[in-house]
Amino acid sequence: PRPIIIDTDPGIDDAVALAIALYSEGLDVRLITTVAGNVGLEKVTLNALRLLKFFGKNIPVALGADRPLIKEPIDASDIHGSTGMDGFDFEEPTENLVLEEHAVNAMYRVIMASEEPMTLVPIGPLTNIALLLRLYPEVKGKIAEIVLMGGSTGRGNSGVMAEFNILADPEAAKIVFQSGLPLVMVGLDVGLKALVYPEDSEQLKDMNQTGRMIYQLFQKYRGGSMKTGLKMYDSCAIAYLLQPEMFQVVDTFVDVELGGSLTTGCTVVDLKGYLGKASNAKVCVDLDPQMFKLWFMESLKKCN
Ligand code: BDR
Ligand code: CA
Repeated sequence: PRPIIIDTDPGIDDAVALAIALYSEGLDVRLITTVAGNVGLEKVTLNALRLLKFFGKNIPVALGADRPLIKEPIDASDIHGSTGMDGFDFEEPTENLVLEEHAVNAMYRVIMASEEPMTLVPIGPLTNIALLLRLYPEVKGKIAEIVLMGGSTGRGNSGVMAEFNILADPEAAKIVFQSGLPLVMVGLDVGLKALVYPEDSEQLKDMNQTGRMIYQLFQKYRGGSMKTGLKMYDSCAIAYLLQPEMFQVVDTFVDVELGGSLTTGCTVVDLKGYLGKASNAKVCVDLDPQMFKLWFMESLKKCN
């Protein structure tokens, strides 16, 4: 199995991505780090711990940044509820999985100690990853790839042009895109096609206890409006790791707008090469929705 670190802000779609990753045979989740995003740091960390308790998995958790590098914080409690994971009554975590180190130090230690190069999977704002790359540039030699959920080649979901994870900390995102590391951008182009409909959700209800839990979260996701499909953004990053064939990917140059009066936080994806810059990312531009659905359901069947 491929060793990975998941940097997350659970978040209902984060919860689903974590379920799939933690039960997958192809992935070895070595560390979970948390970052303020969908809701504040304390809440997202508690949610990560609740999920681990629910799954019965003892993976170390390290708390990361409680705010973006420069911008004022934003959140997505309108989508995920005020707890960040509204809809299910979780048992309170008992195991103390929380490390005393900051997420950035924990990532550094775990990356440097690994025999195999580590893959980072950020599915929240990129604050922790940017801090890691700035504080410990030596980790670059030991990172296989960063597969991140964020960005868009077109329009946004947190404003006209910006996707939430990039908009939440654009300066951090810019540091990551300029890092020179192998990057995969799994953004809205595919996330908007990774849809779960009411009839899929019904199937989850009787699948297993994880399915039941997710079914209940889905009743509250985006205010429970499921008819047009719930978007499984963060699961797409996990899908890319496990079944890249379902994606269409283009090698290209990506930058992040910081100074626009209307476009701050948008990813500028130079698909036509106007800027004449060398490519710095593999961008997922399309997804086979049927393959995704099949993979998604089969993956959740493997959970408890
Ligand atoms: C991203 O924003 C968050 O609300 C989701 O968890 C996902 O990571 C989608 O834009
Ligand atoms: Ca997320």
